Amino acid sequence: MTYLDSVSANRYAESADAPTVYVCVTCRPPGEPDSPVRPGETLAAATLRAAAGTEVQVRPLRCLGNCSRGASAAMRANGSWTYVFGGLDVTSADALIEGARMLARAADGILPWRGRPAPLKRGLVARVPPIGFEEVAE
Ligand code: FES
Repeated sequence: MTYLDSVSANRYAESADAPTVYVCVTCRPPGEPDSPVRPGETLAAATLRAAAGTEVQVRPLRCLGNCSRGASAAMRANGSWTYVFGGLDVTSADALIEGARMLARAADGILPWRGRPAPLKRGLVARVPPIGFEEVAE
């Protein structure tokens, strides 16, 4: 199956409510800004394969603004916080899908630390609240 076949096959999962993983396809190896090698593209293809048969949508895109810490990906589910990860590689694909499914099940929209796949612990770059979020005073 080609990379583009994988993108097409993942369209069946398309839904406004489905958990979604965005994978940067233009990330280069860390510290090699001129490299022709694109680990992000390899990660995107592996993540598309890992999503097969799940409810997770995978959306390859160009640049998440985390270029110095690539390969990079982000995820969100309906109404959840949005998480950005870096320092990923092709072995992180299953973790991205597992994490997106955990996030979709989280009633508070926050990706739990306990049980979170290791690449999503060490690779966390930022989390961004959903639209309409208001901090509750303690
Ligand atoms: S090129 Fe991948 S985050 Fe910018």
